[in-house]
Amino acid sequence: MSTPAHWSSRFAFIMAAVGSAVGLGNVWKFPYMAGTGGGSAFVLVYLGCVLLVGVPILMAELMLGRRAGQSPYYSMVELGRRFGGTPAWGFIGAMGVVAALMILSFYSVVAGWALAYVPKLFAGSFAGATAETTGAAFGAMLAEPLTLTFWHALFMLGTVLIVARGVQAGIEKAVVWLMPMLFLMLVMLVGYAAVTGDFAAGFAYMFRPDFSKVTPDVVIAAAGQAFFSLSIGIGTMLAYGSYLPRTVSLPSTSVIIALADTSCALLAGVAIFPIVFANGLNPSEGPGLVFVTLTVAFGNMPGGSIFGGIFFILLFVAAITSSVSLLEPIVATLEQKTGMKRSTLSWLVGLAAFALGMATVFSFNHWADFHPLGGGRTVFDLIDYVTANIMLPLGGVLIALFAGWCMDRDTSASELGMVGSPLFTAWRLLVRFFAPAMVVLVAATKLTA
Ligand code: PHE
Repeated sequence: MSTPAHWSSRFAFIMAAVGSAVGLGNVWKFPYMAGTGGGSAFVLVYLGCVLLVGVPILMAELMLGRRAGQSPYYSMVELGRRFGGTPAWGFIGAMGVVAALMILSFYSVVAGWALAYVPKLFAGSFAGATAETTGAAFGAMLAEPLTLTFWHALFMLGTVLIVARGVQAGIEKAVVWLMPMLFLMLVMLVGYAAVTGDFAAGFAYMFRPDFSKVTPDVVIAAAGQAFFSLSIGIGTMLAYGSYLPRTVSLPSTSVIIALADTSCALLAGVAIFPIVFANGLNPSEGPGLVFVTLTVAFGNMPGGSIFGGIFFILLFVAAITSSVSLLEPIVATLEQKTGMKRSTLSWLVGLAAFALGMATVFSFNHWADFHPLGGGRTVFDLIDYVTANIMLPLGGVLIALFAGWCMDRDTSASELGMVGSPLFTAWRLLVRFFAPAMVVLVAATKLTA
């Protein structure tokens, strides 16, 4: 089966878009980013970014994709010609393809960690675990490049197989059941954290405002995380929008995606931080945070091995519905460019992403002390930093500028189904002025700081 001309229903589209948005970004990245960003300062800026920058750009990206109806790169070339005076707007799509490949490369490695944890949990390896033992187990896994490579390869293989068949066949069916289950599981973990963890400390850490901690670095990290988590600025939503029928309302869909995405991230945080404080862990532990904390919970709750195994399966599903949305815009663009078969291209791109992913695998062992640009950043840190903090925000701002300044008022109003609505005026102000101004301001402060 090849790329669907459109999603089979509005519900299927929402599920696929939510599937793309909700992933490792919510459960793995958001909590540790909040932890290294000082807790509430990060969380509050993050929420502001989602609402004022993320949602408007998500609407814009879906709108542009649906309007052009082609693969991300060619959509932007075509729209650029028609509305922007130059096909050079295709740059947005081209940069997105590169960014997607880079993200996919490390995403697969981290999703591999989740996969590796499934058999560990079912085998009861964490029974009675403490923060020390789970930390040691995680460290031991990272020290073994072969293990990491095995799970990375397996995950990439799964992603390739799904994209090769076409997104509709596999993804639609899986997400409808499994995403709600992940959500319920997160709610359950919050319940566990509330009973046994230091809930007050965890909650205060995430939500008690402390504006003195809001530095340009925190704003950049939070903005980057908002783009990453909503899957915007990279062409994913351009591609998904291009398969959408005209009848679907883009504003309400965008709000649903953002709500689902944000609630999953907040739930993950509220589940994890109470466990962090009750066990004397360091909130700025870094990328291992969820693997070290939640396994303490699973190791000590009744039936924890089963729940834990299921949880990591669900995390894997959340991850694969996102990774296919990283591979999809690359394959769709190359398919249009080369005329080659979707399945062949899926394999080739998957192989390239796998090879690039080896740099991330080694960043946690052989190359742990290799910091190519200094600043204590490994190759993995660099790929993550450049994509989330530079490429996605840049792509997002260009999308906002294009939608706000090149597309004419009437075309966007009718495409968004918001003719005459005051909310349309608000959207237009946000994409024309606020989103670009904010990103430029933060970048400038950072450069001069
Ligand atoms: N939004 C996904 C997550 O939070 C990651 C992703 C980024 C997917 C960009 C597609 C495009 O895990």
